Amino acid sequence: MFTKIIVKDNVHYIGVNDRKTSLFENMWPLEKGVSYNSYLVTGEKNVILDPAHGNFFSGYLANIKATLGDGKVDYLVVNHMEPDHSSSVTLLMKQFPEMKLIGNAKTKEFLEAFYKIDTTDVFVEVKDGQTLTLGDNEFTFYTTPMVHWPESMVTYHNNTKTLFSQDAFGGFGALDGSIFDDEQDWEDAEYETRRYFTNIVGKFSTQILRAIDKLAKLDIQTICPDHGIVWRKEPAKIINYYKSLSNHETKNGVVIAYGSMYGNTEKMADTIANTLAKEGVEEVKVFDVSKTHPSHILAEIWKYKGLVLGSCSYNNALYPPMQELYHILEINKLKNHVVGIFGTYGWSGGGVKTLVNLPKNNPGFDFIEETIDVRCAPGEEDIDRCIQLAKEVVKRMK
Ligand code: FEO
Repeated sequence: MFTKIIVKDNVHYIGVNDRKTSLFENMWPLEKGVSYNSYLVTGEKNVILDPAHGNFFSGYLANIKATLGDGKVDYLVVNHMEPDHSSSVTLLMKQFPEMKLIGNAKTKEFLEAFYKIDTTDVFVEVKDGQTLTLGDNEFTFYTTPMVHWPESMVTYHNNTKTLFSQDAFGGFGALDGSIFDDEQDWEDAEYETRRYFTNIVGKFSTQILRAIDKLAKLDIQTICPDHGIVWRKEPAKIINYYKSLSNHETKNGVVIAYGSMYGNTEKMADTIANTLAKEGVEEVKVFDVSKTHPSHILAEIWKYKGLVLGSCSYNNALYPPMQELYHILEINKLKNHVVGIFGTYGWSGGGVKTLVNLPKNNPGFDFIEETIDVRCAPGEEDIDRCIQLAKEVVKRMK
């Protein structure tokens, strides 16, 4: 029997922690784990909002039982169909055979496509803005397409003014002990929240801003996301944080990400970093793309205004570990960055030649056209050009 956790009045937390999985979506590192949040609203009808990951079903079921005893679940609201949540839908259906599923038309399509569920008698379809009264509880549903998937929606519990926001306003990191914002150290949690945002939903920043606008009319007293902290004291804080990330607000500081096989490109990276520090830039973060996962590099790039990318060439093309970061940056369509490019080659080039396409094709980048492409190893003149590049970054950041 696990602990019963009350979020507010008849709203309970029944989610689970995952400290086992190494990679979220089999791609993004989970050094600090992740939580799959789920909530149970009790009353004349018992309603679950968002199922937890099916891989953790026994612990999840224990949490339901700890809250509900031998009671039954009448409705399951499926706000989002990504399998980190929906993979327990069929398990819950077996456990509570009379339970109905609530979602929108696209949710229904996904339920049928992923799990081959015959939705004929079990699915209650809701539309954007529709309110359902389930026993003594009232819920209103709002579609939030592409935050994170096409079917994504959020649910507002009118009785307690609680927003069940699915992936929106979430973060990485298992919930160690308390689940609430007023009992967490935001200094610690901020990084894992930013990393989640930038890795998972950041590419849909426009849609996030649209969703925030749409929900602005609601009196939101508590935010219950599908991952990370439950916001009961300062829900506006996480809304404003997501807004600032979605608006690509950046602060003074520079990320240098480089790929280097034999230290020549690295030497240029260090020269640029040292110059930035001399020029008064207090926050300079240097990453070797062969050592640090792009998940972490992206989270830092999102934060800082300056970005300097350096790569050696590999078989007349971009160095493969840099290629991965390049691809991730390309699809995220970042804005408000000053971007400098440098690198080395031994034969006929390929590193810098490819890298320049990123800022050239992205109107959100202030591209420093004077790039540095060095044959084999940097000489004195090349080092001086690195110093000039760093100075130009500082100048443009002002
Ligand atoms: Fe937590 Fe997009 O799923």
